Amino acid sequence: MEPIKYHALVEASMGRGGSGTSVSLSQFHELAKYYDALNDWKDYQGESRRLEAIARRFGRKGKTTWLDVACGTGRHLEFLRRRHAVVGVDGSREMLRPARSRLPGVRLVRGDMRSFRLGRRFDVVSCLFSAIGHLGTKEDVRRTFANFARHLDPGGVAIVEPWFDPSAFHPGTVHLRKTESPDLTAVRMAYSIRRGNRSTIQWHFLIGRPGQGVRYYRATDVGLLLTRYELLQCMRSAGLRPHFLSRGLMPGRGLLVGVKVGKG
Ligand SMILES: C[S@@+](CC[C@H](N)C(=O)[O-])C[C@H]1O[C@@H](n2cnc3c(N)ncnc32)[C@H](O)[C@@H]1O
Repeated sequence: MEPIKYHALVEASMGRGGSGTSVSLSQFHELAKYYDALNDWKDYQGESRRLEAIARRFGRKGKTTWLDVACGTGRHLEFLRRRHAVVGVDGSREMLRPARSRLPGVRLVRGDMRSFRLGRRFDVVSCLFSAIGHLGTKEDVRRTFANFARHLDPGGVAIVEPWFDPSAFHPGTVHLRKTESPDLTAVRMAYSIRRGNRSTIQWHFLIGRPGQGVRYYRATDVGLLLTRYELLQCMRSAGLRPHFLSRGLMPGRGLLVGVKVGKG
């Protein structure tokens, strides 16, 4: 399998103190180390509760078997494992490293969401924080949904948080976020661009650590903008009966829910 490098699905350059010197991708992977700190604003526990409520609403009640695809550093699984038998899949070795420390005893598999095979089925398959936006084409999205369907029991539920609908993506905007903790201070600025059905987010990070100085990282993240109707169509053709919930986990994204039809 081609290794998948989170944030580096993309191109990157990095320099000490903003010098802009190009460095190897292995150094760039350091950003995965900062993922949790950079996303400390996200309410993973609240989101996990809401995901469980959605699973119940679509018939998956009580303790379920739950597969989180593109699980990243395992933040949702940390809460879901309290009430469910969980497994995680992610394409990035660097993202799985903190997940393994966080989730001792949980099966975590490195795999591409389009093609991984676990040889078993689940009650629920989730794929969150717009990870499908990293896929390159609509056919990749359809293949991914078919793979989710392959890993679901009949009547099982796929819960997918999509990337923005094209109408909700606002090019030309600048976003700023600041994170402060005793051992790390980070500033993240993003600039959004749109070309056809591709979104581009240009990220700039300043990450400072006591005794270690401040480092500058830059990354470009390209996403696929599909309409709600295109996504629902991809789900339907993958053998999932699709629903769209406009109140999702994060503003402007919604949630797709697909119920596995048939036995295949
Ligand atoms: C925005 S992060 C979301 C991580 C996690 N779900 C969360 O909510 O924090 C996107 C994740 O998708 C993973 N990813 C991207 N493309 C992938 C692919 N084709 N197959 C598997 N994982 C992929 C990345 O490695 C990264 O961990």
